[in-house]
Amino acid sequence: MAKAVSATRADGAAHAAVNPLREGLQSNRVADPGTIVFFGASGDLFKRMLMPAVYSLRLKDILPANFGLIGFARTAYSDEQFRDYCKEAVEQSLQPDAIKDSLWNDLAQRIGYVTADFNNAEHFAELKRRLDDYEKRFGAGKNRLFYLATPPSVFPKIVEQLKNAGLDPASNPNGWSRLIVEKPFGTDLASARALQTEVEKVFTENQVYRIDHYLGKETVQDIMALRFANTIFEPIWSRNYIQSVQITAAETLGIEQRGAYYENAGAIRDMIQNHVLNLLALVAMEPPASSDADAIRNEKYKVFSAIEPPAPEQIFQMSVRGQYRAGTIGGQKVVAYRSEPDVRPDSNTETYAALRLYINSWRWAGVPFFLRSGKRLARKVSEIAITFNPIPHRLFGEKSDTIEQNVLVIKIQPDEGVSIRFNAKVPGQKNHIRSVTMDFNYGTGFGVKSAPAYERLLADAMRGDATLFTRWDAVQRAWEIVMPLLDVWQSTKDRSFPNYASGSDGPEAAHALNPGWRAL
Ligand code: BG6
Repeated sequence: MAKAVSATRADGAAHAAVNPLREGLQSNRVADPGTIVFFGASGDLFKRMLMPAVYSLRLKDILPANFGLIGFARTAYSDEQFRDYCKEAVEQSLQPDAIKDSLWNDLAQRIGYVTADFNNAEHFAELKRRLDDYEKRFGAGKNRLFYLATPPSVFPKIVEQLKNAGLDPASNPNGWSRLIVEKPFGTDLASARALQTEVEKVFTENQVYRIDHYLGKETVQDIMALRFANTIFEPIWSRNYIQSVQITAAETLGIEQRGAYYENAGAIRDMIQNHVLNLLALVAMEPPASSDADAIRNEKYKVFSAIEPPAPEQIFQMSVRGQYRAGTIGGQKVVAYRSEPDVRPDSNTETYAALRLYINSWRWAGVPFFLRSGKRLARKVSEIAITFNPIPHRLFGEKSDTIEQNVLVIKIQPDEGVSIRFNAKVPGQKNHIRSVTMDFNYGTGFGVKSAPAYERLLADAMRGDATLFTRWDAVQRAWEIVMPLLDVWQSTKDRSFPNYASGSDGPEAAHALNPGWRAL
C-alpha cells in the first residue's frame, strides 16, 4: 500500500520521500567530474541564476565531488572576494537556511576567479594555468565547461581567445570541452550565421550547448511526456480534431534595467524567436523514434522547416505589435516604455508581439498557431491552450446554453499543470450544460517544487546530454521565420505606439487577429 500523500510545508518544500507518486524513483543523476568556467561571472545572470543553481546541485548531490568553478570577468575580485560574492548570491536567492556551512566550505575552496579583459590573451593564458592547477587539485580530469554568460557581442572574441590559449577541444584530447552559449544566439539571421561561423572554427556542433532556459523548465519537458507517454492524446493531436493552438508568454515585468539591450531586441527577438517557438515545436513535433537528443531535435527542426516565413506583404495581416504606456500593475503605478531608462522617447521597439503561423504538414495544415508575448501585461502566465473542434451535432443543452469547445491547457508557469475543459450536465430537472475543468497540478500531485531551469541545464551540459539545448539548424530556421517580421516592423514606424496600458491584456488589435485569446 502506498503511504499517504504528505502536506506541503509552509516554505513550499515538501516531504518528498512519502509522496506515493514519487516512491521508488531514483531522482538524481550525478554529473561528470569537471570544471566550469563562467565568463561574465560578475554579471546579473551569474548572480541571480547560475551560482544559486551550482549550489543547489551540490546540495542535491548532483554536482560531482570532483568539481571546480572559475569566474572570469572584468570586475576586479580576489579569489576570496569572489567567494563572498558567490555566497551572497546563494543567500539572496535560496532560503536562508539552505546554506550548510560544511557544504559551502567544501564548495568555496573549489571556487576561483580571474580578473580579465576578454581582449587580453595573457588573461586567457592565466585561465589555462588556473584550469591545470584546479584539475590537479580537485581531480576534475580534463573536463571543461565554458559558459558564456556575457553580452553576445563578446562571444566570438572569447571563442577565438580560447583557441589561441590552447583551451580549444582539439588541444584537450584527454577530456571533454563544451561551450554553453546564452541566448540570444545572434540578433538576426546574418549575425547568427556570423557567430556560428566563428563558433564552429573551434567547437563542433556536439560540443555546443545553446541555452533556451524555457527548455529546462519541468513543465516544458512535460509536454513530451504528456504527448508520448500517453495514448489518449496522440490520436486526436491533429487538424482532424484541433481547431487552433494558442501559445502565451505574458509577463507583468517591464524591462527592468535592460533598456539598452531591449531597445535593440523587442519582443520578437527576446521571447518569440526562442522561447515561444520552442514551445510550438514541442507541441507540434512528430513522435521521435527514440529519446536521443538528435532524434528529438530532428523532429523539432522538421516543424520549423514546415513553417513558411511570412511574405512581407502579409505581415500586417498575420501579426500585431504593441508597446506599453504607463499604467498600474499589482496596485503600483508603472511608467511607459518610452520613459524607461535607456529607451528613446520615440522608440519604435515592440514590447508585445502576437502572430499567427501555419505549419504546412499533413498533421497541421490549416490549423492556426497563435503566439503572443509581452511585457507589463495583466498577469504573468505562460501556457499552451489547444482548442478542439466544436461538436458536430447538438443534442444536449437548453436553447440558451452555449456549448463551449473542449480546451486542453498546458500550464507552464506560474501555475504548473494541465487542465481540460469539457461540458457537463448541470444537476436538476432541466438539461442545462456548463463547461467544467479537470485540473492536474504538479505541486500538489508530486509534492515537490520544480527545480529552476538552470539547474537542469547546467547538470545536463556536464553530463553531455544536449536534448534540452537548441541545435544550430533550428536556431537558424527560427531566425528565418521571424526575419520578415523584424524587417517590416523595423522599417515602418508604428504611429499607434504606445498602444496598450501597462496592466492590460495587450493592444486591441490583437483581438482582431484572434478573437479567441484566453483572458490573462
Ligand atoms: C528571458 C528574456 O529570456 O526570459 C526576459 O530575456 C524575460 O526578457 C525572461 O523576462 C522570461 O523568463 P521566465 O522564465 O521568467 O518566463
